[in-house]
Amino acid sequence: MVAGAATVAYAHFYELNHFTVRSEKLPVLPEGAQDFSILHISDMHMIPGQQKKIRFMHSLAELEPDLVINTGDNLSHLQGLPSLLEALDPLLDIPGVFVPGSNCYYAPIMKNPARYLWKQSTADEGIDDARVKLPTEQMHEAFEERGWVGLINRFDVMNFEKLRLEFSGVDDPHIGYDEHPGFSPNAFSTDDTPSVRLGVCHAPYLRTLRRFVDDGAQAIFAGHTHGGQVCLPGGRALVSNCDLPPSRAKGVSLEDDVPVHVSAGLGTSRFAPVRLFCPPEAVLVTLTAGS
Ligand SMILES: [Fe+2]
Repeated sequence: MVAGAATVAYAHFYELNHFTVRSEKLPVLPEGAQDFSILHISDMHMIPGQQKKIRFMHSLAELEPDLVINTGDNLSHLQGLPSLLEALDPLLDIPGVFVPGSNCYYAPIMKNPARYLWKQSTADEGIDDARVKLPTEQMHEAFEERGWVGLINRFDVMNFEKLRLEFSGVDDPHIGYDEHPGFSPNAFSTDDTPSVRLGVCHAPYLRTLRRFVDDGAQAIFAGHTHGGQVCLPGGRALVSNCDLPPSRAKGVSLEDDVPVHVSAGLGTSRFAPVRLFCPPEAVLVTLTAGS
């Protein structure tokens, strides 16, 4: 009993705010291309007053990434938007792309926190019209005013000095909002400019990953899983909150031969504020030559 209470206290008061930066390398660029660094952030679930999270987010700008990818679930409170924009302020000066998660559309509702350990699908989530809507449009407009590009069921292209990025993004598959746009028809041209095709989504459902692969993605970025959120020692996830095997709930795995990067995210629902053996993270993903 005492040990259980101590574990919950650790998971709530310590690990929840033990923010970390993880690093990954994805060898997906053509031979001779220069490294390209991407800061992958996800699942901030911002609520007012999260000063430690804001300070950590500010420190991420010092990593000087070439690009920020935000894979959604930005809010966990109706009044969370000002704190979110304060936290993201330095990163919004860097080129970025974003896709929404369900927690960019609907405020969380009180449920048994332990249900995270058994819910697996949208049907379990109980999305319905009665849920309170978050200021989604206001948030996306604020992102776009600073130059971030929404990839909500659309493709886009970003040209950098050393690399052309071809994106295909979808709205959140967890609530069935996903409609795949494919990639720009020019994404498969064979001119001399180094380029790479990236799929971006919130929830890494298998149907989503397979469709990105079929469309020609060379790497995929997703969030949503919280890395399992409450894990066994060593970080072994028990659930992924979707049909992705829990062993793939965090880090890099392969869908066919295409690397899929899943972030464990930076927050939790405000009604399930615990993390165990799964600290909140931002991830610096370096794309390197080697495909
Ligand atoms: Fe989330």
